[in-house]
Amino acid sequence: MTVTKAVIPAAGLGTRFLPATKAVPKELLPVVDTPAIEYVVREASAAGLKNVLLITGKTKGAILDHFDRAWDLEAVLAEKNDLARLDAIRASAELAVIHAVRQPAPRGLGHAVLCAKEHVGADPFAVLLGDDLIDARDPLLTSMIAVREALGGSVVALMRVPLDQISLYGSAAVEPLPGGVVPSLPPGSVFRLSGLVEKPPREQAPSDFAIIGRYVLHPAVFEVLEETAPGRGGEIQLTDALARLAEMPPEAGGGLHGVHFTGRRYDTGDRLDYLKAVVRLAADHPELGADFADWLDEFSAELRGRAEP
Ligand code: UTP
Repeated sequence: MTVTKAVIPAAGLGTRFLPATKAVPKELLPVVDTPAIEYVVREASAAGLKNVLLITGKTKGAILDHFDRAWDLEAVLAEKNDLARLDAIRASAELAVIHAVRQPAPRGLGHAVLCAKEHVGADPFAVLLGDDLIDARDPLLTSMIAVREALGGSVVALMRVPLDQISLYGSAAVEPLPGGVVPSLPPGSVFRLSGLVEKPPREQAPSDFAIIGRYVLHPAVFEVLEETAPGRGGEIQLTDALARLAEMPPEAGGGLHGVHFTGRRYDTGDRLDYLKAVVRLAADHPELGADFADWLDEFSAELRGRAEP
């Protein structure tokens, strides 16, 4: 069964980005001129997932408005013949068919995914975190769907991180699979996962392979989540449910694989990573890029000057 649905959890509190996220959801913070979550919906749409379920929460109504038509604005722009902006505001409403469900309280990412159970039903589905931005030039989701189609079970995205940062992520125990198991992917890029630990201290991490915010999940995850007790931080952790799926036999919907991602990725819920995403995408922006890069060069020289004794 092929993957057609994407679930985008966007109901977290965004405490790392306060006070900006007191009234504005972090998923709507602009990365240059586009809210972070629009890049995520674009990514799902580009991978062929045109059925998108947003998991939203308190203060998140504006996220849905962003993916709706804005007739009043459209009328003003049409009147001014401002066609570029007219296209830009229509585009977000045409990327996918957007559905929404509210997570009644932010009880963790695992609980947010469980809120998608009725919508998803019995098919495999993708999960894309609404604040995790993967550069469109480094496609990942299509590779993950290919792994799911070749090997079944569930698939996560893995990125190597310095060991002193592994305690910020889920860490995976991995065994490389021989090249050719997924013909479209290079040898060494697909792993079997035998275990997972959420945010371990460095000395307890099974490896430096961290799980990042893209998943292709077997629907068996819902039953596992229903039985998953609150874990780290009192939240229902998706990582705990994935660790259970890794141990389960394939006939029960178990089996967990990972795709090694080496491209550009930004956690826009983290202030420093957010700034890096803005600078990188601004430097590549078709209208602003050249002027911004010139200014950045001058500014870097100024900073180097400041650093000199
Ligand atoms: P994060 O851990 O980055 O979100 O969750 P957070 O809890 O908002 O972060 P901080 O630590 O307070 O800053 C990853 C993704 O899961 C969603 C978030 O919106 C984000 O997209 N999430 C998290 C939910 O939808 N519900 C939750 O209960 C927790």
